[in-house]
Amino acid sequence: MLDQTRLPGEVVHVTLPGWPDVVDAIRTMVVRGAPAIGVAGAMGVALAARNAAATSATRQAFDAEMGRAIAELRDARPTAVNLAWAVDRLAGIVADHEGTPAEIADELDASARAIHSDEVDRCMAIGRHSLPLFSRGARILTHCNAGALATGGYGTALGVVRAAYAADPGVSVIVDETRPLLQGSRLTAWELEQEGIPYTLITDNMAAMLMSEGRVTHVVVGADRIAANGDVVNKIGTYGVAVLAREHGIPVIVAAPTSTLDLSMPSAAEIPVEERDPDEVRDLALFGRAASPAGAPVANPAFDRTPARLVAAIVTEQGVHRAPYERSLRQAWDAAAHDPPG
Ligand code: MRU
Repeated sequence: MLDQTRLPGEVVHVTLPGWPDVVDAIRTMVVRGAPAIGVAGAMGVALAARNAAATSATRQAFDAEMGRAIAELRDARPTAVNLAWAVDRLAGIVADHEGTPAEIADELDASARAIHSDEVDRCMAIGRHSLPLFSRGARILTHCNAGALATGGYGTALGVVRAAYAADPGVSVIVDETRPLLQGSRLTAWELEQEGIPYTLITDNMAAMLMSEGRVTHVVVGADRIAANGDVVNKIGTYGVAVLAREHGIPVIVAAPTSTLDLSMPSAAEIPVEERDPDEVRDLALFGRAASPAGAPVANPAFDRTPARLVAAIVTEQGVHRAPYERSLRQAWDAAAHDPPG
């Protein structure tokens, strides 16, 4: 896979020979973004099966190894529900299959590839559905990276941007740099460069100023998990952007496939937020000097919770959903179960 920690400076692909390497790649954010870690998790389960089929003398030994792989892949990161969603789908195949380990490995391989191509199809549908939400010459602020890198292809929030730009070359993007790991400046700006879509990069604390000057017409973000009531958990800083957008009368549009819905969560309050290494906050080098005292006490929640009341629309591959979200998201979920992409 493409190592996202080295972008934009270097485009390096890494080879992951076993499932523990996939766990490590997800934890260290070689691969990141909710749908992309779901795809990676599924690929990790398929890889575990391929390796275990070659080394296990019995079905019992194969199942034991698969149990370890599935548990660790599922727990590699806690917030984006796509990871558990994808791993659980493949775990169900292992549990129900009565064939040989080699047959199971073949089926998991096909299922992991299908999850990947389905996610790309979902993103493209999200882009199509969102088109009526934009006026001509829209200036879209986005936070974090919800592009091809984060989804295995095309993108959710950036898929919306891509579709809007294809329909109207007057569309432009304002990219929040997204502290502390700079997914906006490192990854979103890089993707927009590849696509030739005009953008302006800002630090996170500049969004209010640009909004107050009328330089932002829409906010479009992805999501890591969406609760039954429409509360959205996404990259840290999204909540602040949504509060600012409300103050300035700017609509916040959340773009996410139904694999990001978690209707078992009544609200975002129940969704776990990953706390990451304090050094991610401390160690920004400034002109060769430390950015903070060594060992400075740090809070580093990787995500925040945006209440549904601040969200103007949620776009899934099933369409544009409006409040009350309990009903519209349930309909989207049920429709997705009956109408899987591909
Ligand atoms: O910590 P990350 O980089 O994995 O967080 C990613 C985000 O928060 C994205 O906005 C979200 O996963 C949507 S990606 C389509």
